[in-house]
Amino acid sequence: MATTQFTVDGKPARVDGDPQMPLLYALRGDLKMINPKFGCGLAQCGACTVHINGEAVRSCVLPVSAVQGQQITTLAGLGTPDKPHPLQTAFVQEQVPQCGYCINGWVMTAAAFLKKNPTATDAQVRDALAGLKCRCGTHVSIMRAIKRAQAQMV
Ligand code: FES
Ligand code: FES
Repeated sequence: MATTQFTVDGKPARVDGDPQMPLLYALRGDLKMINPKFGCGLAQCGACTVHINGEAVRSCVLPVSAVQGQQITTLAGLGTPDKPHPLQTAFVQEQVPQCGYCINGWVMTAAAFLKKNPTATDAQVRDALAGLKCRCGTHVSIMRAIKRAQAQMV
């Protein structure tokens, strides 16, 4: 049993429990932040991605104790309904989601990558997203949305 304190989307958070508990469980179970999804639980699909100090991280395999004092951003903190992130806008405009389960992973991973690499080529973007999965097969519209957002981010 241990206490881990960090910030999520700019607000202080505290989790009491097993320090080895995956961060994803702390976010979804303890803090009721349901944008990061449980997909594989093995760092293979990306559905659970959050930003830690701006880096895209798969929260299903990271012990909660590893984020002591860190700044976490979830999809809900990336933008607001009034001021959405360009990727959030583009995913809506391109009507990407089918079931929507994977979308958190694509948006969060692409957001962290494009922030550092705003002029990345299509091939570089595809490489950066290569480990993500969409079981509904929306990959073509995902890439279209990311390209649309990228044009707003350079
Ligand atoms: S649930 Fe974390 S990578 Fe699949
Ligand atoms: S939209 Fe259903 S898994 Fe991607």
